[in-house]
Amino acid sequence: MRIIKTADYDELSRVASNIIAAQITVKPDSVLGLATGSTPIGIYDRLIKKCEEGDVDFSDITTVNLDEYCSLAADDEHSYRYFMNEHLFNHININPANTHVPNGMAGDVALECAEYERIIKEAGGIDLQLLGMGHNGHIGFNEPADEFADVTHCVDLTERTIEANKRFFDSADDVPRRALTMGIGTIMTAKKILMVVSGRDKAETVKRVLTGPVTPVVPATILRFHADVTFVCDAAAYSLMK
Ligand code: F6R
Repeated sequence: MRIIKTADYDELSRVASNIIAAQITVKPDSVLGLATGSTPIGIYDRLIKKCEEGDVDFSDITTVNLDEYCSLAADDEHSYRYFMNEHLFNHININPANTHVPNGMAGDVALECAEYERIIKEAGGIDLQLLGMGHNGHIGFNEPADEFADVTHCVDLTERTIEANKRFFDSADDVPRRALTMGIGTIMTAKKILMVVSGRDKAETVKRVLTGPVTPVVPATILRFHADVTFVCDAAAYSLMK
């Protein structure tokens, strides 16, 4: 695992956006795995700027997002599809047909999950997966569990995640209780992984992820078994590491 410690969130965003831009430059038809949440916003802002300035070309890029809430339509402002359109896709020269987010409105959830796995495989697999990390060590919506989930599946969100994500909703009661997420197995098939973590409130989890036992109770620990992970962490998030 390559660990890049940055002074602050701003530098984290710059470093991570440069890594993604380099991936696109080296392989213009890359399949990018993307994440939502607060942490990637600065990265997406920079990628938009690079695209506007002609430094990054998304025209041959395919994207697959990690996850989506169940029961939220694409045009619901709380859905992850809406978030991605607002924070990235609407502002870059990507073909919308090549952007994929699980369909949280799918009637047949098992079919939707199988279809999502098929999309990833047919695209040639994920070249670079961007990940954020939950306070409980979740990646995607793979919550602490007895075992590592394999492929895309439906999960019940933990109270901690509902609490953390309520900031995007009017109240915790409005946060959907279920979500579709790539599995840990899906994430681990990505050729490269780029994990970004910011803030003092994640410092304890960073320490557990980097130094504690590899366990599904802290899902991000599995990344220590991946051959090509770049962990970009700001000083606050890294503050409990020696
Ligand atoms: C989002 C996702 C989540 C977030 C994580 C961290 O698509 O998969 O795992 O990456 O909850 O979220 P932030 O960045 O808001 O702290």
